[in-house]
Amino acid sequence: MSDTIKYLLDETRIPTAWYNITADLPSAPPPVLHPGTLKPVGPDDLAPLFPMSLIAQEVTTEREVEIPGPVRDIYKLWRPTPLYRARSLEKALGTPARIYYKYEGVSPAGSHKPNTAVAQAFYNKEAGVKRITTETGAGQWGSALAFAGSLFGIDVQVFMVRVSYDQKPYRRALMETYGARCVPSPSPETRSGRAVLEKRADHPGSLGIAISEAVEIAASRDDTKYALGSVLNHVLLHQTVIGQEALAQFELANDYPDVVVGCTGGGSNFAGIVFPFLGAQLRGRRSVRIVAVEPAACPSLTRGQYAYDFGDTGHLTPLAKMHTLGSTFTPPGFHAGGLRYHGMAPLVSHIKELGLIEARAYHQVTCFEAGVQFARAEGILPAPEANHAVRGAIDEALRCKEEGVSRAILFNLCGHGHFDMQAYIDYFAGKLTDQHYDEAELAMALAGLPSVKAA
Ligand SMILES: Cc1ncc(COP(=O)(O)O)c(C=O)c1O
Repeated sequence: MSDTIKYLLDETRIPTAWYNITADLPSAPPPVLHPGTLKPVGPDDLAPLFPMSLIAQEVTTEREVEIPGPVRDIYKLWRPTPLYRARSLEKALGTPARIYYKYEGVSPAGSHKPNTAVAQAFYNKEAGVKRITTETGAGQWGSALAFAGSLFGIDVQVFMVRVSYDQKPYRRALMETYGARCVPSPSPETRSGRAVLEKRADHPGSLGIAISEAVEIAASRDDTKYALGSVLNHVLLHQTVIGQEALAQFELANDYPDVVVGCTGGGSNFAGIVFPFLGAQLRGRRSVRIVAVEPAACPSLTRGQYAYDFGDTGHLTPLAKMHTLGSTFTPPGFHAGGLRYHGMAPLVSHIKELGLIEARAYHQVTCFEAGVQFARAEGILPAPEANHAVRGAIDEALRCKEEGVSRAILFNLCGHGHFDMQAYIDYFAGKLTDQHYDEAELAMALAGLPSVKAA
């Protein structure tokens, strides 16, 4: 077994339950608040947007939530995903480190996003929902929900952040292939979109704005609900199939990670790979160092404040306590569109506050360098978002080389970059530059955080 590359599980090993880390945490994360009353939101507050089964998952304290049979059957299309040992990359780096990556790009949409899209579409279908609205940054989430909607016969409308809509016409075409409607955001179709366009007609958009547009439509129609591709507890919960499979695959490899690395936009792929390992640690198993890697141009975990804030720019959502750059902050238009979010999942923020994880920020050029180095050794072309995790893992491996120690490094290769070739074209043409956010805009966005007395 010594030079095995792929650690594979058969379909019977798809997890039967999602893992809920709140059952094992030393303290619960602060509650989500109603922006009017500043009291914790109840199920009725969320009912216009989500089916009750997902609202229940949002607040459950059970350690395990059973995965419905029809969802597991659909998971079989791409799960269990492979765990690779990156032997060629190790050789190229000349590192004694053992580098492993879990590859989520084998899903139909090309990333981890269908793990929750299929679950969310299933529960919406069960509740009789006819239409779902959503936002997308990179287009990965939009295509995942479009795919899931097509399986369950639900209409999907996707508000795609303008800058990504222009950068990635093929993502839009994929969503349309699955039968979804894709609209560039900010759009004239909603009050929130029109308010932004009035101030700036060529606004590049942001995830915060696209969320406002999707929420606004869902809240105003009885037959329509809203789905979010990250941030919320139930989304992170669905992604834990990744780490659970990885735990079983490390048993096959007769190894265990010393370090786990994931990129963070809203926190879902990171939580997906990390939470099962962290849970095992909290229950007394070996401890692992955990590194969250985020873009330096949108650094919520490393530069944001841990405070109550809106999840969207138009202030239609409840208030969540999270690391935030301020809901009015518009990140520059760098290529990892899926990481251009002002906030961080409340659960990921909470475990950061508990000191259970580290965070690090990188600019985009060094991430593309890492992605190209990875592709030349391992063959897989990572999504620009995933390049952040690749950079983080390579830096850990280079540290092993400097220190002359062999550690096991696991990272989540959360998606492929086949629809992101313009970014690679720009990189090879030397046109890709590091983008810097406007310090004054960040200060203003942080100054505008809602005032909430300690909850
Ligand atoms: C490939 C990929 N990775 C990561 C992300 C960031 O989201 P999250 O932090 O929820 O995994 C996205 C979001 O669109 C994505 O498409």
